[in-house]
This record gives sequence, structure tokens and C-alpha cells, in this order.
Amino acid sequence: MSSKDQFVFTLRGGLKMPALGLGTYAPKEDDDDVFNAVHTAVKVGYRHLDCAAIYRNEIAVGSAIKKLIIEGTVQREDLFITSKLWNTCHRPDLVRASLKKSLDDLGLKYLDMYLIHWPMAYKEGGEFHPRDENGKVLFSDVDYVDTWKALEDCVDEGLVRNIGVSNFSSKQLQRILDKARIKPQINQVECHLHLSNSKLQKYCQENGVVLQAYAPLGSSGNKTEPPPKCLEEPVLLEIAKAKNKTPAQVTLRYLLQRGLSLVPKSVTPQRIQENFQIFDFELSSDEEKQLQNLNKDFRMHTEDM
Ligand SMILES: NC(=O)c1ccc[n+]([C@@H]2O[C@H](COP(=O)([O-])OP(=O)(O)OC[C@H]3O[C@@H](n4cnc5c(N)ncnc54)[C@H](OP(=O)(O)O)[C@@H]3O)[C@@H](O)[C@H]2O)c1
Repeated sequence: MSSKDQFVFTLRGGLKMPALGLGTYAPKEDDDDVFNAVHTAVKVGYRHLDCAAIYRNEIAVGSAIKKLIIEGTVQREDLFITSKLWNTCHRPDLVRASLKKSLDDLGLKYLDMYLIHWPMAYKEGGEFHPRDENGKVLFSDVDYVDTWKALEDCVDEGLVRNIGVSNFSSKQLQRILDKARIKPQINQVECHLHLSNSKLQKYCQENGVVLQAYAPLGSSGNKTEPPPKCLEEPVLLEIAKAKNKTPAQVTLRYLLQRGLSLVPKSVTPQRIQENFQIFDFELSSDEEKQLQNLNKDFRMHTEDM
């Protein structure tokens, strides 16, 4: 269980996705921080980057990728790069242009993965968060099953190799699975020690979908919130001490051993490295059980970025 090569998912068409990726949602940081984080991460060994149009930093991510390629650290094919379709662009005729915008910002010819970021659609237009005069979000009635067909067309065109969803329940995913010509490969959802999402994981496994954990360290993603509380659980601290690893490393290793993909975010070079050093130790089934017992079905993320 010690080699990182064992934690790779083989997707449609034989495409390989490393289970561990770098998250790039950095609401408190500027573009230089994100550029440096991506550059550091790939130098350290990460080959999987999780991006999105709504993170508003795909140009910075793209600049780092360009630099890494020019320096000879990696070639484009060595990287697995995900982006996400924002809620205002679910209408089928808007999908290709949104994907192209992410590609242009990232400086890429193709993506490895494109996800529908959330199941609900917002009113189309320039604003990421369209609201009425009372501040209420304006929705659109586009059905994500129709959005999915437009994503399939983007695969046919070679703009993206694989497609998936994010923040979908099993019911919502089933509606796509029932109609899909190209099956979703990933469902990226909030998942950490306080939110195991194990029922959804079982459903995904039975349907050939990889469950990918976002906020794996338990961050609320909120600009003003303190650091993740999950990392302070006494049981976790004890296991970390016994293993001579940090609480973050034990958490990430636990999620890996559960068979998940995960995309922890950090802009701190030492933590980026720390979060990658999870392939040289193993948790026993008793330790796994203790960590499993920390689940509270506690969700922090709603769509309010
Ligand atoms: N699909 C979706 O709707 C969705 C929603 C949210 C997030 N995501 C994706 O998932 C990624 C990760 O989620 P997230 O950023 O919300 O939360 P996270 O990865 O659980 O936690 C990130 C926070 O933990 C800190 N941190 C990182 N490594 C640490 C370590 N070793 N020890 C202690 N603290 C550590 C980071 O600080 P520093 O950066 O300061 O080091 C940051 O404050 C995002 O970046 C994004 O790519 C997707």
C-alpha cells in the first residue's frame, strides 16, 4: 500500500487520474500565491490540478503550467487538469464557450476533466451570482440533463477527455446515468472527517463513478472562518503522534485508503509538500475505524462563493 502508483484511477479511454490533486480555490489569496502554489506543487510531484471558472484564477494557474512546461519539469500530457462549468452557463448553447474560456485562461488545448459545478442553474448573463433587487439568487430552469448532452459534444470535439459532476446527490446523478451516452466519471463533493458521504460513495462505486473529496481537510472555504476544526480531533492527534505524521497527513491518507480521490488546497509550500507525503505509511483497520467514527454528517459548503 505504500506506492503512490497504487492510488491512480483509470477512467474512460484508459486515461489515468492520480487520486491526489491540488485544490486551487483560494479566496483569500491573490494570483501570485496561486501561481506559486501550482508551481511548487508540480515540482513536489503533484500531477493533478483542480480548477474552476468561479475561482477566478485560471489565468494564474495557466501561467504556472506554462512555466513548468518551458522549464522542462513536465509535459502537458503528464498533467491531469480539471475545470468546472459555472451555474450561469448551464444552457446547452453556452457550454462550449465556457469550456473554451477556461481553456484559453489555462492556456490549454484540452482539459482532462470538465465537471458541472453544481446541479442548479442560475439566470444566464454576465454575473456569476445574479440576484434580484432583494438579493435573492435568480435561477434558470435549464435541466442539467440537457447541459450534460452539451458536455458530451465537447468530448466528441476533443476539447475535454472526460466529464463529470460536482455536488450531485445520487438521485441527481441517476438522472444523468439514465440518459448519458458518455457516463459521468467523477462526482466531486464535500467530504472529510466530519462528513463521510459513505452512502454516496457506495452508490458511486456501484455505478462506476469516482467520488472525489473536496475540502478534505474540513475547510469551510469561507474567507473569514478560522482553520479547519477537523484537524484538532483528539483521536486524530493521537494517531498522528503514533505514526509520526501530521493530522493533515493522517486525514488525507485515511481518505485515500477509503478509495476516494481528493483535492486538498494549500498555498503554503511546506504544507503543499506535507500533503503529498502520504504514500509512505499505512493506517490499520482499527485506526480507520476510529477515524470513521468521527463522522457527524456535518456539511459546511453551500453554493455561496
Ligand atoms: N466542487 C466544489 O463545489 C468545491 C467546493 C470547495 C472546494 N473545492 C475544491 O476543493 C479544494 C479543497 O477544498 P478547500 O480549499 O475548501 O479546503 P481544504 O483543502 O479542506 O482546506 C484548505 C485549508 O486548509 C489549510 N491547509 C492545507 N494544508 C494544511 C496542512 N497540512 N495543515 C493545516 N492546514 C492546512 C489551507 O491553508 P493554506 O492554503 O494557507 O496553507 C486552507 O486554509 C478547493 O481548493 C477546490 O479546488 C470544490
